[in-house]
Amino acid sequence: MAASLFSLRPARKEDLPYLSGYAAAEGMDALPGAEGVTVAVNDDDVPVGFLRVVREEGWPAHVSPVVTCAPWRGFGVGRALVEEALARTGELRLVARGSSVPFYRALGFGELPWDAIAPTVAADCDGCDLRGECGPVPLGKVHDGTDGPGPAVG
Ligand SMILES: CC(C)(COP(=O)(O)OP(=O)(O)OC[C@H]1O[C@@H](n2cnc3c(N)ncnc32)[C@H](O)[C@@H]1OP(=O)(O)O)[C@@H](O)C(=O)NCCC(=O)NCCS
Repeated sequence: MAASLFSLRPARKEDLPYLSGYAAAEGMDALPGAEGVTVAVNDDDVPVGFLRVVREEGWPAHVSPVVTCAPWRGFGVGRALVEEALARTGELRLVARGSSVPFYRALGFGELPWDAIAPTVAADCDGCDLRGECGPVPLGKVHDGTDGPGPAVG
């Protein structure tokens, strides 16, 4: 069972070098800290993926970003991280790279207008030289309460 390969827990400061490495491998900025970050860890408590929730006053929670390290892709890590965050927050919005839209579609996310995205999150794309190549798409999902129990967050 994929769920037994990893578990979820809140990120700690000592996880950040792993997480920043995974982010850098995807051309993403290093994380500002562990706040809002959940990690998926292997049996040795080494992070294999992470999801950061960004909170902006007056807006639903946003994902920025979710990353599974390359050798662990396809084992349900990304789904577990997103489903746990969705169950915890009740609603998630985000701007997906074009290449990750099929992942979010598989999780039931739908397309949103750009003005449904919190300004600080939308601003990440505004000055980006790679915007054309990336093809960002605003997406969101409201928790429907029907998810089964996922891996526990310790
Ligand atoms: C997107 C990403 C997080 C997916 O992580 P993952 O751990 O491999 O995803 P999962 O194994 O949990 O897959 C969940 C579902 O999405 C589907 N999926 C994942 N990537 C897919 C793709 N490229 N195309 C089609 N479906 C995809 C899987 O088939 C699976 O479907 P199922 O549960 O119905 O079988 C990972 O590929 C990644 O880190 N990419 C680079 C960073 C990135 O682009 N992040 C998103 C932008 S913030």
